[in-house]
Amino acid sequence: MASSALQISTAISSSSSAFLGHLPTTTNNVRSSKVFLPARKHVACKCVSAPSAEQTAYKTKVTRNANMAKLQAGYLFPEIARRRSAHMSKYPDAKVISLGIGDTTEPIPDVITSAMAMRAHSLSTFEGYSGYGAEQGDKKLRAMLASTYYNDLGIEESDIFVSDGAKCDISRLQLLFGSDVKIAVQDPSYPAYVDSSVIMGQTGLFQKDIEKYWNIEYMRCVPENDFFPDLSTISQADVIFFCSPNNPTGSAATREQLTQLVQFAKDNGSIIVYDSAYAMYISDDSPKSIFEIPGAKEVAIEISSFSKYAGFTGVRLGWTVVPNELLFSDGFPVAKDFNRIVCTCFNGASNIAQAGGLACLSPEGLKAMGETVDFYKENTKIIVDTFNSLGFNVYGGKNAPYVWVQFPGRSSWDVFAEILEKAHVVTTPGSGFGPGGESFVRVSAFGHRENIFEAARRIKQLYK
Ligand SMILES: Cc1ncc(COP(=O)(O)O)c(C=O)c1O
Repeated sequence: MASSALQISTAISSSSSAFLGHLPTTTNNVRSSKVFLPARKHVACKCVSAPSAEQTAYKTKVTRNANMAKLQAGYLFPEIARRRSAHMSKYPDAKVISLGIGDTTEPIPDVITSAMAMRAHSLSTFEGYSGYGAEQGDKKLRAMLASTYYNDLGIEESDIFVSDGAKCDISRLQLLFGSDVKIAVQDPSYPAYVDSSVIMGQTGLFQKDIEKYWNIEYMRCVPENDFFPDLSTISQADVIFFCSPNNPTGSAATREQLTQLVQFAKDNGSIIVYDSAYAMYISDDSPKSIFEIPGAKEVAIEISSFSKYAGFTGVRLGWTVVPNELLFSDGFPVAKDFNRIVCTCFNGASNIAQAGGLACLSPEGLKAMGETVDFYKENTKIIVDTFNSLGFNVYGGKNAPYVWVQFPGRSSWDVFAEILEKAHVVTTPGSGFGPGGESFVRVSAFGHRENIFEAARRIKQLYK
């Protein structure tokens, strides 16, 4: 074996396959091939449920958290990165285009980075230095978030908790709710809701036959129901994770649909955790915040992020709104407990990132973010037009940077493998987002324009 590389199998353990949906069965799949990957990459992408090949002989006496053992394979996106690496090892000369993970690609507007640079430099001065900030975030930023995104919706500065991103707040919210709640998720949906629920011990084991965890309510969102669940078939859940515009389907719920959802939560005494990470991508009159719906403040929390608006996926800045009207069954304010969680688990967002957040919300910053979003929306149109011209059923794209393409009767991992193998384009298999995503792939519009055109050209070539 070469000293700089570890020979590993790209196969994942059978216990991990169910979460990742149906794995490719075709001969050109990468599942069973032996490839050489750089050792560093192997470490970064190893599966959760499979023991590491580099285990030491010495074992501690600490029992593994049984909830961790319930998780199916690695988190979806590291798994895709692993397959991308395997593909690049197999085809070292191929120019692989990644429209998979959904990471932003365009530079952060200068008006925003200049403000962060200034703040960073000021930390070298006695006047400008600051250490720990408020766990809830800078007061001015909280006030600007309230006035920019929730003006006239009755959301106050004190309802807003600035964070290091929406994904981190999903886990902090799970910690807030504890292990005794039952969650509902859109099926398909962003995997962090389900995985954090499993880790918290809210679920039973993964049921391989139906590809669902016991004690999670999967709300099927498919073209037949316009990607909005039939609420009359949904059994009671304590916490409803609802993402609009949805990742991965790209579909945004209408005002009428969200009014139904709020009423459903009220009727059942549930709390909605509304993920609006893509709200700036909305092109039609769909609500950008759950708090546009009357009565939502009594039943909803909203999480959001600068990641996909300003290219802050690496900078890390988001926020969570917990209205003071939202109460637990004993009348205790949810915000007070969330504040306690934040003060315990978090020491506040980076002061440099928060300076960037303030710049994002300045008039120039808002304009620059709008231009970034418009750039990705133009990419989306190119991808939608490409698949439409090939006769596919294409969803999403209008209100989100994701295009959801249907391949009827086919396994989404097979399609993922086919597009990677033959076009050297990375997509995301729909079944990785839940069983309702089977036979779809998600194509992300985050990419440089020339890569989007090239990917479109290769996909046309593949499916013409
Ligand atoms: C629906 C959804 N929520 C949250 C996140 C994570 O956002 P952040 O970068 O702020 O952690 C993502 C990232 O892709 C997402 O798609």
